[in-house]
Amino acid sequence: MNTDYNAPTPTPPADGRGQAPPLPTTHDYSAPLRVWHWGSALLISGSLLTILFLKVIVSPRDLVPEWKQALAKGGVAMTVQQGRALAHAVGERIWDWHIAIGLALAGFWLLRVLLELRGPAETRFSARLLAVAHKYRLAPPAERAEAGGALFAKATYALFYAFLTVMVFTGLALTWADDVPLLGRIEDSVKEVHEVTMYLIIGFFVLHVAGVVRAELTKDHGLISRMIGGK
Ligand code: HEM
Ligand code: HEM
Repeated sequence: MNTDYNAPTPTPPADGRGQAPPLPTTHDYSAPLRVWHWGSALLISGSLLTILFLKVIVSPRDLVPEWKQALAKGGVAMTVQQGRALAHAVGERIWDWHIAIGLALAGFWLLRVLLELRGPAETRFSARLLAVAHKYRLAPPAERAEAGGALFAKATYALFYAFLTVMVFTGLALTWADDVPLLGRIEDSVKEVHEVTMYLIIGFFVLHVAGVVRAELTKDHGLISRMIGGK
């Protein structure tokens, strides 16, 4: 999965005997890339958790009848409006967390852009994607499947970076929708894009973890440790 297709072509042995080329080396992940990776993974999981709490685990709106019932037992009558106001207050608490985590994720997005534009060569995703695509085009039939797998993995990362960019920009637009009239007017459409992109990110997450675990268990032992510890 993380085969380094940038590796130089091996030189043939000096004695001229035929020898299968060594397997391409695997690359080490630089510290900034690892910090970005695990930081983003944590923040994305956090964002998803806030949505899980809001829509499924707590779901404040669905609690209104229960609150009404509990208060009625103590002889207190609560109107539906009062219940909704309470539900709104609980929901706002969770949204505050969602937005705080989202702003941190936007910071990590910026870090990734800076790494791409200014970082050391090994953190540049675009260079690795092009190298893998080039290697795929030139691969002899026997190596085509493996080169295709590497290209597929990189293509999913490219898609993920696009999803993340959409998520950050739509998220920021929603954050400022109440303050900027233009953003307020497009809020509903922006929300839809934000929500649909969430499902795409969940899809990436499932595919990514399955792919990485499969690679770890089959042909690339130590891959996950390298993404954690570098070497
Ligand atoms: C929300 C969670 C996650 C996101 C968004 C995510 C995202 C990414 C991205 C974008 C890359 C490519 C980095 C690059 O080359 O520029 C990557 C690589 C990698 N990730 Fe994740 N990741 C997540 C969770 C995980 C988890 C849970 C594991 C471990 C089980 C993991 C292990 C790896 C490994 C080993 C690589 C390197 C694979 C390779 O070079 O092909 N990731 N991840
Ligand atoms: C992977 C990360 C993220 C996920 C999974 C996610 C998911 C969601 C979902 C499902 C909604 C509800 C949309 C609707 O009501 O139809 C939402 C709303 C929102 N998100 Fe995100 N989001 C993420 C990242 C961000 C980021 C980076 C920001 C920017 C700071 C952000 C800010 C917001 C805001 C302000 C709302 C509207 C809250 C409200 O209605 O009061 N989100 N998000």
